[in-house]
Amino acid sequence: MEKTVLLYWGKGGNVEQSAKIIYNQFNMESIDIFDLVSFDIKNIDNYEFLILGSATIGADHWEQASANNEWNKFFRQLADIDLSGKTLAFFGLGDQVLYPENFVDGLGSFEKELKKTKAKIIGRWPIEGYEFTDSEGILNNMFFGLALDENNQWDLTEERAKKWSCQLKKELGY
Ligand SMILES: Cc1cc2nc3c(=O)[nH]c(=O)nc-3n(C[C@H](O)[C@H](O)[C@H](O)COP(=O)(O)O)c2cc1C
Repeated sequence: MEKTVLLYWGKGGNVEQSAKIIYNQFNMESIDIFDLVSFDIKNIDNYEFLILGSATIGADHWEQASANNEWNKFFRQLADIDLSGKTLAFFGLGDQVLYPENFVDGLGSFEKELKKTKAKIIGRWPIEGYEFTDSEGILNNMFFGLALDENNQWDLTEERAKKWSCQLKKELGY
């Protein structure tokens, strides 16, 4: 089986908890997990499949924080790396009750950045089962990746993570 790496940021909150749930859906020998800051990008070639996880913390915040946002640093580093032949998927945390007009907007930022790489992107996810009015994280009624809402639908996270992980394995042909 091809080797997978799951990279998440930030630490100590919903993203980390969800990352561990997704990690647990894979065979331990086939997947490594790191918080983004602990991962040495030089090791990226050890992996064929990358899963990335983050939270949306406001579009304005995202842009303003670009100089020290760990994901933006990572995306800048990716620009110098050839990811052709690799596959990517991503998940995003959000809050559909407090931010119904920007629910998981971060998935849209990830899509935009990761499309610049030559990697294949998988793991689109249907919008059914969520209640929000707008999101930059969707196209044709599909989220660009798995949307999780630990603030309002924590009871659905495990089930969604299981289903999404099965979908990823199928899409990968495992
Ligand atoms: C300052 C701030 C801004 C946020 N902005 C958004 C947003 O625009 N859209 C959204 O869906 N969730 C938004 N959220 C909700 C978080 O994405 C959500 O609570 C997430 O689970 C946090 O993950 P963490 O505990 O790992 O930090 C925001 C949260 C904070 C604290």
